[in-house]
Amino acid sequence: MSHRKLIVGNWKMNPASFEEAKRIAKQTRASLAGLEHVAVVVCPPLPFISAALSKASVPGFHVGAQIVSVEESGPHTGQVSARMLASMGVSHVVAGHSEARRAGDTDEIVSKKIARIVDAGLTPIVCVGEESRDEGGAHLEALADQIRKTFAGISEAAARKAIIAYEPVWAIGAKAAMQPEVVYEMSLFVRKVFSDLYGQEAGMKALVLYGGSVDARNAADIMRVGKVDGLFVGRQSVIATGFKELLKAVDAVS
Ligand code: PGA
Repeated sequence: MSHRKLIVGNWKMNPASFEEAKRIAKQTRASLAGLEHVAVVVCPPLPFISAALSKASVPGFHVGAQIVSVEESGPHTGQVSARMLASMGVSHVVAGHSEARRAGDTDEIVSKKIARIVDAGLTPIVCVGEESRDEGGAHLEALADQIRKTFAGISEAAARKAIIAYEPVWAIGAKAAMQPEVVYEMSLFVRKVFSDLYGQEAGMKALVLYGGSVDARNAADIMRVGKVDGLFVGRQSVIATGFKELLKAVDAVS
């Protein structure tokens, strides 16, 4: 997948039915036809994961999960383990999304989840991002602190498996994305913090995505000017036509 730019489609708590999930996944697979420079990870709600998994392997199409337990197995009613997800054919798992953090996932919980995901042989997509911006730059320290705490206890070998989705929280579900020039600055900052934790090479090699109000109109600029390795897309990922245009736009970025 490495030569392809990575587009994560975070379906959140959508769509309403299994049939609709099947249709969106099918359309997303079809949208990839002829595109050689993008890969997609669709992350449906748990009950719809099987609707997104296809028997035939489609180059560049992967299925991820939005949730995972910090526990490994046993008496944890309502929980789903990383190994269960792996056994279904899921390849990626999102951890640390701001909506999950708001619902109770602390840095410590996110860190435990990352460890479980990697142990199960899956790729964690770790979301980080500041709540708001501050003229004095306090948001930079807040972001650095969140990254350090989120990766606390994670070995270098495990951290190198992670994909980092930088998502300024104020740009998620908003009207507009962050300006591409600022995305560039922030992605460099994220790499710098990661380098301080795991060494320069790990920082350089880490895949860093941008997320927050990405659509077909702004995707190419964010990729080109923001110089990120991919995008983390919410709302637009369940709108088949919009997502298709977005993938085409990113595929065309050289
Ligand atoms: P959005 O969501 O693309 O709808 O802003 C992004 C996200 O899921 O973080």
